[in-house]
Amino acid sequence: MTGQWIDACATDDIDEEDVIAFEHDGHAFALYRTEDDRFFATDGLCTHEQISLADGLVMGTIIECPKHNGRFDFTTGETRGGPVCEHLKTYETQVRDGRLFVKTA
Ligand code: FES
Repeated sequence: MTGQWIDACATDDIDEEDVIAFEHDGHAFALYRTEDDRFFATDGLCTHEQISLADGLVMGTIIECPKHNGRFDFTTGETRGGPVCEHLKTYETQVRDGRLFVKTA
């Protein structure tokens, strides 16, 4: 299936080394900005108990879930500790004219 590029937010809407929630068509995403100004997107809910990762803590390229401290590398979606065992789905991103676009599939 070919994905669709969605205009998600202004790049400045996300602080450095932080995450925000974004919803499109009823699907929750988490959008991340690293300290060195790279942007990433993953599913918005933890694969353990469907908690919003946007309420979690970003450390480098790790997102820590606010509920049981499960960790994922948000650049790859791989688990990095805690009770999580299912990887997080990641999405392609692009920055154009100060806007962050996410490819939805
Ligand atoms: S809900 Fe995220 S680690 Fe349990």
